Amino acid sequence: MGLDQIRDLISRAAYIDGHRRQVAKTCEGKVLATLFYEPSTRTRLSFETAMLRLGGQVIGFAGAQVSSASKGETISDTLKVVSNYADLVAIRHPKEGAALVAARAASVPVINAGDGGHMHPTQTLADLATIQARFGKLTGLTVGLCGDLTFGRTVHSLVETLSRFGGVRFVLISPDELRCPKYVLDRIDASPSCEYEQTSDLLSVIGDLDVLYMTRVQKERFFNEDDYLRLCDTYILDKDKLAHAKPSMAVLHPLPRVNEIAQEVDQDPRAAYFQQVKEGMLVRMALEAALLGDELPGYQAWKEVEA
Ligand code: CP
Repeated sequence: MGLDQIRDLISRAAYIDGHRRQVAKTCEGKVLATLFYEPSTRTRLSFETAMLRLGGQVIGFAGAQVSSASKGETISDTLKVVSNYADLVAIRHPKEGAALVAARAASVPVINAGDGGHMHPTQTLADLATIQARFGKLTGLTVGLCGDLTFGRTVHSLVETLSRFGGVRFVLISPDELRCPKYVLDRIDASPSCEYEQTSDLLSVIGDLDVLYMTRVQKERFFNEDDYLRLCDTYILDKDKLAHAKPSMAVLHPLPRVNEIAQEVDQDPRAAYFQQVKEGMLVRMALEAALLGDELPGYQAWKEVEA
């Protein structure tokens, strides 16, 4: 997706937020299929709510065991079948590249709702909309990403996209065992106006950050439970640590959280992770309407006034 398209979706999400009634029939008669082979609360429910709020309908399954994948059906065959039922598909799968395989087999648009430890592009739209709402810009920021940077697909997608916008200083905070993969670091290196540093010490850098993006250690992607248990509570953001941060810093987290952010942080105005949830539904509404070719009633006139 191009940067102008991303900016446009964020703008459309802002429009939708203030014009729920006007857009309520935008996708009338359209069907979204959510094919979730992995657990989800936010992504699946927000995709589905988005479609319902646009006047469309939803089909799908949650869990590979309740689909014919449990009988051995391939992703390609499933997508060839579901393309007959739905106008748009959102797929989450534990294997990296599964969404690409699905898109190649389908005859309708396919959205990657998370493929293994690889990418989660629509979470990035929610993250960017939140950063835009908080700072009024996506560049010129120091962005810390903390926790499981190896398996954290939301981190990979966000770094990839922010690197394309440029002008970002990334501070990658993780234990040595959970560093960002090389293909993600290469994206930063490819951006002439971005740079990064790697550290394992959150407290030593927290005061520099505009955004602190906390992540869960991804238990389900570990081969060895002992390794998970050793690493899972490496970083816990609490009031004491937050006292060292800028008053304007925003704390993001794709959720679900386990222990990475103490509940006491929720009341702090810097906590932006529940705002991300709301933005997630709005950007998915914008994305679904755009992919189905449906213009949001009133959007163009609103945009002219806003500009
Ligand atoms: N952020 C996110 O992907 O959450 P879910 O796993 O609940 O969908």
